Amino acid sequence: MSEAKTSLPVANGRVVRTAARRSRVIEFKVDGEIVPAWIGDTLLVAVLSHRGALSIHEFDGEPRAGFCLMGACQDCWVWLEDGTRLRACTTPVEPGLAVCTRPPTDGLRHA
Ligand code: FES
Repeated sequence: MSEAKTSLPVANGRVVRTAARRSRVIEFKVDGEIVPAWIGDTLLVAVLSHRGALSIHEFDGEPRAGFCLMGACQDCWVWLEDGTRLRACTTPVEPGLAVCTRPPTDGLRHA
C-alpha cells in the first residue's frame, strides 16, 4: 500500500505557504489546468498558492484575487461546468473538482 502524498510542489503563486501541513495532496482543475492542493484548502487558497490571480475582472481586465476572503464581497466567483456559481473563498477544494474562472455563457445557477 502506498503512502498518500503530503507535500506540494513549489509554485509562484500570490499566496506563499509558510508551513507544511499534515494533509493529503489532491488535484483539481482550474480553467482546464491541473492544480495541486491540500485537503482542507479553500479554492481561493489553492488557486492563489499556484498562480498570481484567481481571475480577470470582466469589466476592467485587471487580475483579481478576492477581497474579503470571508464570503461577503463576491469578488471570488468561480463556476462549475454546469453553471453552478461558487465563492472560491468559502468552498473547500475536492478531488476531481473542475472550475472555470469565467462565467458560462448560459445556464447560470447560484449556490
Ligand atoms: S473574497 Fe469576498 S466573497 Fe470571496
